[in-house]
Amino acid sequence: MDKRNIIIDCDPGHDDVMAILLALANQDKFNILGVTTVAGNQTLEKVTLNLRKLYTYLGISIPAASGSAKPISRELVLGDAVHGETGLDGWDFPEPTFELDSTNAITFMYDKIINCDGKVTLVPVGPLTNIGLLLSTFPDVKEKIEAISLMGGSIYAGNNTPYAEFNIYVDPEAASIVFNSGIPVIMSGLEVTHEAGILDSEIETLMKKEGRVSKMCGYLLNFYVKFHHAEGYASFPLHDVCSVMYLLNPEIFEYKDLQVEIDCSHSIHRGRTAADNREWMKYEKPNTRVLLNIDREKFIQILFNAFEKLDKICDR
Ligand code: RIB
Ligand code: CA
Repeated sequence: MDKRNIIIDCDPGHDDVMAILLALANQDKFNILGVTTVAGNQTLEKVTLNLRKLYTYLGISIPAASGSAKPISRELVLGDAVHGETGLDGWDFPEPTFELDSTNAITFMYDKIINCDGKVTLVPVGPLTNIGLLLSTFPDVKEKIEAISLMGGSIYAGNNTPYAEFNIYVDPEAASIVFNSGIPVIMSGLEVTHEAGILDSEIETLMKKEGRVSKMCGYLLNFYVKFHHAEGYASFPLHDVCSVMYLLNPEIFEYKDLQVEIDCSHSIHRGRTAADNREWMKYEKPNTRVLLNIDREKFIQILFNAFEKLDKICDR
C-alpha cells in the first residue's frame, strides 16, 4: 500500500510532540515531507526552538521550516498557561544542533506539495495561520491536497472561551479559509480530544520506563497535566495526537459529516466552529468530518507502542 504523504504544522507544545512521535513511529505508513511551526502555544521563536531540540534529542532530521509569528489579522494569543515558559516544560532537552531548511513555511510547504508525485495530507495541530496563507497565496496547490486532518474547534463547548477552542480562536480568518477551501477537513475537536485522555497512572508508567523516548514523554506529560489537574480534568487530553491517529486507525473513532462555518466576528463567539446539526438539513458535500468519540484504551495502546518503537530506533 502506498505511503500517505503528510506535512505536520505545529506549535510544540506537549501534545504536538506526541503527535509528531506517533507519525515518526509509523514511517512505514507515512512519508513525512516536512514539519512546519506556527506561533500559538508559545511564540514562534520558542516553538521552533522546541522542534529543533526535539529533533536533536531524537537524532532525526526531517525537513523543517518556521512559519507565521502572528495570526493573519489578529493579535497573537499564547497558550503558555498550559505548556509553560518554554512551551515544552518538563524535560531537559539538549541544545539544538538541527538547522531549519527554511524560515518561510508557506513557500516550503508549497514546494514540497507541488514537487510531490502524489497528493499530500496536511496535519495542522496549531493555529491555522500557515495553512490559511498557503491556500490563499498559492490556490493552485489545492488540487494536490488530499485532506486536512486538523486539531481544532468544538461543536459544543470551547476551551479558550466558552464557545471557541484555542487553535481556531487564535486565527479565525485562517480557519475560515481552510474550512471553505473545498478540501476535505477532518476535525479533531474537543468532543473527541477530551475522550482521548491519558491518566495519571499511565503517565507514571511512562516515567518509570527505561526507554529514552517513553521516559521523556512521561516527564513532559507530568508537567502538562498540572494545568489540567488544576482545571479538574479526570484525564488529560492529548488533543493533537487525534489528528495523526485518525489517519492511522480511523476505525477507533466515531464521527459525523457536518457543514461547519467559522465565526470571524469580534463578539463573544469569535472562533466558534458552528456546525449545522439539523438532521433534516441535507448538504450535498458537507465540508467537515467531525470526530466525536474514540476508543481510549486502543488509542493509548497504539500511542505507547509507538513510543516503545522509538525507544529502540532512537536509543543512542
Ligand atoms: O486546544 C488545544 C490545542 O491548543 C492543541 O493543539 C494544543 O497543542 C494547543 O495548541
Ligand atoms: Ca498544538
